Amino acid sequence: MKDKKIILSGIQPTGTFTLGNYIGAVRNWTKLQEDYNCIYMIANMHAITVRQDPSALRRNTANAYALLLACGIDPAKSIAFIQSHNRCHAEMNWVLSCSTQFGELSRMTQFKAKAEKHPDDINAGLFTYPVLMAGDILLYQSDLVPVGADQKQHLELTRDIAQRFNQKYGELFTIPEPYIGETGARVMSLQDPTSKMSKSDDNPNACIFILEDKDTIVRKFRRAVTDSDTCVRYAEGKDGINNLMTIYSAVTGKSYEEIEREFDGKGYGDFKTAVGETVADHLAPVRERFNQFAADKEYLEKCWTEGAQKAESIARRTLSKAYRKVGFN
Ligand code: TRP
Repeated sequence: MKDKKIILSGIQPTGTFTLGNYIGAVRNWTKLQEDYNCIYMIANMHAITVRQDPSALRRNTANAYALLLACGIDPAKSIAFIQSHNRCHAEMNWVLSCSTQFGELSRMTQFKAKAEKHPDDINAGLFTYPVLMAGDILLYQSDLVPVGADQKQHLELTRDIAQRFNQKYGELFTIPEPYIGETGARVMSLQDPTSKMSKSDDNPNACIFILEDKDTIVRKFRRAVTDSDTCVRYAEGKDGINNLMTIYSAVTGKSYEEIEREFDGKGYGDFKTAVGETVADHLAPVRERFNQFAADKEYLEKCWTEGAQKAESIARRTLSKAYRKVGFN
């Protein structure tokens, strides 16, 4: 497994993926499968740091796994598994907790934001979640971690924890680097293009879910907030149009100049419809494959069982070394 570099990433199984998850993360994961040893995880243990309905979590986890496959993660090339299936994550979490400072965790901006959002449930798991994530990464001796801006701080902390452990107990962990790929484009809300597209947005028109049907997708794009200019061009202050151009560019591979030429003399209405239809057509095969995988429980279970076995056999080695290093008999 050491011939190629190891890439690890995770996604939480909260609802279905958005166009932002797809363009910003999962689609790029599929492209890395040839050149790296890739490990992709459905982070269901992370999900319970905020209140979840158990049956919904179970369903969302299975669907998220089916979606990974539908998006093109190939279980023959990559390891795709569900976090809770590999007990090493929980065990490593404890060991690393004891090499993490209260002060460091207190500085995590995501913790502060989530604590503010859920003032009635500031549980210890929410606070120590970055340690669990550090374990996710370090168990596999990951070289590279593709993460969005919101996870950068957690990756920095992972590096600090790893370095500290290595110094205290002797070399064990590979120090992971962020993977900065080709523009893992940041998709913004269709209703407020200054904030990130989020599945928890109260306005259903703000967010595209990748399993939505064509009519819904086109309708949401037609309602996208733009500006009072009329010309399709990428420019400062045109956040709405910039976002649509980013999305269109991500699914067609066209440059901004090509897009500007294509819509020269046409209005925003034509452009929005074109983006909507193109996105919907691009996602149609993903939806089709998702429906196939989701209907085949046996195949899904076989894939995630094998994925967990492969994941555990790698993780167990690192965990055993960590146990020995800290002095467990
Ligand atoms: N915390 C990440 C998120 O909420 C998901 C995640 C869990 C992850 N473990 C990871 C991402 C390890 C990268 C590496 O999006």
